Amino acid sequence: MMTNSEQYYSFWSFGVFFFLSLCPSFVLEDPLSILDNWDYNDATPCLWNGVTCAPDMFRVISLVLPNSKLIGSIPEEIGFIQHLHTIDLSNNFLNGTLPVSLLNASERQVLSLSNNAISGELTESIGGLKSLKVLNLSVNAFVGNLPQKLIPSGFQFVEVLDLSSNLLNGALPDNFDGDSLKYLNFSSNKLSGLVSPQFAKKIPANAAIDLSFNSLTGEIPKSIALSNQKTEFFAGNKDLCGKPLKKLCTIPSTLSSPPNLTTNPPAIADIPKEINSTPLPEQKTVVGKV
Ligand SMILES: *[C@@H]1O[C@H](CO)[C@@H](O)[C@H](O)[C@H]1NC(C)=O
Ligand SMILES: *[C@@H]1O[C@H](CO)[C@@H](O)[C@H](O)[C@H]1NC(C)=O
Ligand SMILES: *[C@@H]1O[C@H](CO)[C@@H](O)[C@H](O)[C@H]1NC(C)=O
Ligand SMILES: *[C@@H]1O[C@H](CO)[C@@H](O)[C@H](O)[C@H]1NC(C)=O
Ligand SMILES: *[C@@H]1O[C@H](CO)[C@@H](O)[C@H](O)[C@H]1NC(C)=O
Repeated sequence: MMTNSEQYYSFWSFGVFFFLSLCPSFVLEDPLSILDNWDYNDATPCLWNGVTCAPDMFRVISLVLPNSKLIGSIPEEIGFIQHLHTIDLSNNFLNGTLPVSLLNASERQVLSLSNNAISGELTESIGGLKSLKVLNLSVNAFVGNLPQKLIPSGFQFVEVLDLSSNLLNGALPDNFDGDSLKYLNFSSNKLSGLVSPQFAKKIPANAAIDLSFNSLTGEIPKSIALSNQKTEFFAGNKDLCGKPLKKLCTIPSTLSSPPNLTTNPPAIADIPKEINSTPLPEQKTVVGKV
């Protein structure tokens, strides 16, 4: 049997002390001196800039340091802090990859790392974020396929999903099981292929869905969630057609082939070049039967 104080100690070591032990590896440069009160000799990090603890002071529950010009990378250990429900390190100069441990966190509600230089692939492990409400990874350098199981495996609480301005390719997920979704932004990636009717099937009709500036093709499925979007949310996909775009989908060529226009229009090709040239001497052509 653990005594109360032993129990507290184990909580303590997993939350607060653990946080103390990992942070030195996190930031290489801090030009604004935001982390000046991060004194590793403190008994607790709960009063440090950007750190919030639960009222019991035993668990670190959020790490919020946006716009801080921090240079460094995200250590794997941050992912092991069990009760850390909010991480916002957006608008810094963080590079390196996103540790898988960060995605395997059933209590994480907010993960915002927008506008850094984080690279690497987004693996299917992202489905481990089972309580996630806000995922903002926009304006980074993520590559590789958009995970196909991004959503069905537990993103039903996601309200905001911003992956815009990365280098993601591959197709849209076939099935997006996000009943709580309010905002999805995949703009300015390299996504290709068709927008399948299943993709938008469960997306609430009033959610904003920005798919602009990719390489999506074909007809936008006739779903309320998609047809209600602003035209600009589909712009920059040159082979996409159908509502809400003004561009109608052409009838497939197997049904009605367009007229063959590859022959030169004679009206232009046969105009004699007389300007700036002496008129040709009248040719004596033999008129008559050959
Ligand atoms: C991240 O940035 C630091 C500091 O500029 C640099 O030394 C390091 O090589 C970079 N790491 C990667 C993986 O780009
Ligand atoms: C994810 O977390 C569980 C327990 O919370 C652990 O058993 C598993 O090894 C973790 N997986 C990864 C890839 O970190
Ligand atoms: C994602 O983060 C960036 C940078 O903080 C912000 O500008 C953008 O509005 C965020 N996206 C959403 C959907 O909140
Ligand atoms: C989606 O992201 C792009 C690029 O980050 C941004 O310009 C655009 O305004 C966003 N769309 C919406 C609907 O917020
Ligand atoms: C169009 O006409 C050109 C020249 O007559 C011909 O070579 C070409 O095969 C035609 N294309 C189609 C699709 O019929």
